[in-house]
Amino acid sequence: MQNIILITGAGKGIGRAIALEFSRKAGMQPAFDPVLILCSRTYRDVVTVSEQCRSTGIETVPLEADIANMSDIDRLVDHVSTTFGTIDCLVNNAGVGRFKNLEDITENDFDYTMSVNMKGTFFLTQKVFGIMKKKRSGHIIFITSIAAETSFKSSSVYAMSKFGQKGLIETLRLYARECNVRITNVMPGAVYTPMWGDAGESFKNVMMMPEDIAKPVVDAYLQPSRTAVEEIVLRPVGGDINS
Ligand SMILES: NC(=O)c1ccc[n+]([C@@H]2O[C@H](COP(=O)([O-])OP(=O)(O)OC[C@H]3O[C@@H](n4cnc5c(N)ncnc54)[C@H](OP(=O)(O)O)[C@@H]3O)[C@@H](O)[C@H]2O)c1
Repeated sequence: MQNIILITGAGKGIGRAIALEFSRKAGMQPAFDPVLILCSRTYRDVVTVSEQCRSTGIETVPLEADIANMSDIDRLVDHVSTTFGTIDCLVNNAGVGRFKNLEDITENDFDYTMSVNMKGTFFLTQKVFGIMKKKRSGHIIFITSIAAETSFKSSSVYAMSKFGQKGLIETLRLYARECNVRITNVMPGAVYTPMWGDAGESFKNVMMMPEDIAKPVVDAYLQPSRTAVEEIVLRPVGGDINS
């Protein structure tokens, strides 16, 4: 049976690694037949990842969408529902961060972070959860962060948005348990991805790699449907890099 899996922010970093891991697992387990819907704002990125995922013979669909835009959310979910009839798994991975001292955060930094991490994640989840609730099955995975429960001085708005995502997850879980939908909160510490910009290079040796996050995420999805992996916490072995 096909598994229709929508991954946001699949063009780079952790989202890309999750897409590749779903594809790798499908290559190893012929009974697992995922269809990957890969979205990000940069179409060429998701086209490239799509092609890489297809090497194991799975079906992939690259789509350009900005989750901060309500009409993009509607277009994305309607397209997937019309084409495939359902959504079995949503990986809420797309996220942004502006890392500065508290006094340097601008209104633009605030609005940009909240529009993606909070508003986009909320309304995409709301729409997809409606589909899963009706069919009484599904799995929503959130890539939040260690910053959803630990504070760092440079992460004020980012932390606010990630604490907010955790608030949504805890509430959603109350609804999800009533209709057989699984919810997983994945909280990684520092991962070497483009999100870190130039700073990434200097911390690379004390960070995790995107595939370290992707493996447990896909394993959580492949658990028997009676079992929900509710939380996954992953840290570099040496701890948080800016604690
Ligand atoms: N890297 C870390 O250390 C770390 C640690 C803990 C948690 N996380 C979380 O993990 C998630 C992925 O982070 P990452 O490090 O992989 O980031 P990344 O390397 O910057 O990749 C983010 C992906 O999300 C896409 N994206 C961003 N805004 C979007 C939007 N509005 N709509 C659709 N797609 C969007 C980006 O592509 P476009 O820009 O082309 O849209 C890109 O494909 C984020 O939620 C982040 O907060 C990261």
